[in-house]
Amino acid sequence: MKLLLSFVLLGALHQWAAANKILFDGRIPLWTKNETLDASADPFLTAVKGRSYPATHYSGFLGKHFHPTPLWNGSPEQVISIRIDNTSVFIPGNGTGVPQSGFRRTELIAQRNGSASNADRVMESGVTRFHFSIKADQRWPLNYTHEYQVVFIEPSDGSHVFGIQLGSPFTNPTGILPAPYARWFKVLDHNLNVLFKTPFTTDVWHNFAIRVDWENRTLQVLYSIESRRLASVTEVVSNPTVPLGDAGKGDFHVGLLKLPLVNPADSPANQGDVVHYGLQEGTVEGLLYSGIFVERIS
Ligand SMILES: *[C@@H]1O[C@H](CO)[C@@H](O)[C@H](O)[C@H]1NC(C)=O
Ligand SMILES: *[C@@H]1O[C@H](CO)[C@@H](O)[C@H](O)[C@H]1NC(C)=O
Ligand SMILES: *[C@@H]1O[C@H](CO)[C@@H](O)[C@H](O)[C@H]1NC(C)=O
Ligand SMILES: *[C@@H]1O[C@H](CO)[C@@H](O)[C@H](O)[C@H]1NC(C)=O
Ligand SMILES: *[C@@H]1O[C@H](CO)[C@@H](O)[C@H](O)[C@H]1NC(C)=O
Ligand SMILES: *[C@@H]1O[C@H](CO)[C@@H](O)[C@H](O)[C@H]1NC(C)=O
Repeated sequence: MKLLLSFVLLGALHQWAAANKILFDGRIPLWTKNETLDASADPFLTAVKGRSYPATHYSGFLGKHFHPTPLWNGSPEQVISIRIDNTSVFIPGNGTGVPQSGFRRTELIAQRNGSASNADRVMESGVTRFHFSIKADQRWPLNYTHEYQVVFIEPSDGSHVFGIQLGSPFTNPTGILPAPYARWFKVLDHNLNVLFKTPFTTDVWHNFAIRVDWENRTLQVLYSIESRRLASVTEVVSNPTVPLGDAGKGDFHVGLLKLPLVNPADSPANQGDVVHYGLQEGTVEGLLYSGIFVERIS
């Protein structure tokens, strides 16, 4: 009995010992309150959301009765619920810009000491690995005729170093919906090539880790479900369209960005402007997240 116990403990320690230096930790301790989100306090900046309500209308920590990914040996951590509704219209420039009426979005952005760029500086040099686990929230299903961007790193030019996509990619004109693989996760590189895809089955945690070499501009995808060990599902692949240096670095977003469908009533010029135009149903939709952290590889 005693021997068995130490085996279990060793296994647990091994998982932690295998972890490298943690550069950013978005795993939410059990004592952390939802008000942290309203305050936009570390670890997450909550500015990207609708302006009608405080952050806790769109996101929250689910307490000890919801189980996070078991990948990290049940390390105590709260599941994060992120939702959008028809009020989830982000207005950039702290409310002074043009409303992004085409999108619905609620995103948490990694920050350190109240600053996303502080976190970026720490996370985005050498070779680092971005971890996150995603589960369906059956209370508020997605609509797979739309495109969703659910995790990405966004340099200031609006491109993504890598991105996780769900649903049917936006096209103008609208194609046959839902698109093939709409209910699959797609891991995209900067040039929007699909590096890896896997079905978004419900009831299980989907664990992803993206290894980013910031100097050599490569990516590698690791994946597992539930408590299974992460396994490489791609080689180290070149990501050559990322701008060199700081222009190719940006904020680490986790959440829901839902694109519209083309609205035939819009002018031809506006039909491709996904940020400001298009059709949205205004439904409440959500996802669950846990296991968000970034570690140094080299
Ligand atoms: C925190 O937010 C979540 C999700 O919105 C909600 O389910 C939960 O009840 C909230 N916790 C408290 C203590 O209010
Ligand atoms: C955003 O604007 C509000 C007033 O609308 C102000 O209180 C707040 O400090 C501003 N935040 C930033 C980050 O500038
Ligand atoms: C955050 O602030 C602390 C205390 O001022 C400082 O030691 C630390 O270096 C800062 N971290 C970052 C990433 O800015
Ligand atoms: C999903 O989106 C399509 C396209 O806009 C819409 O026709 C459909 O009613 C939506 N489904 C739900 C459940 O809202
Ligand atoms: C980055 O590229 C250089 C030059 O091609 C090579 O020597 C180095 O091993 C690469 N680093 C990694 C981490 O692959
Ligand atoms: C969603 O909000 C837009 C305005 O932003 C409004 O025109 C539309 O009628 C709303 N849709 C629903 C279903 O409430």
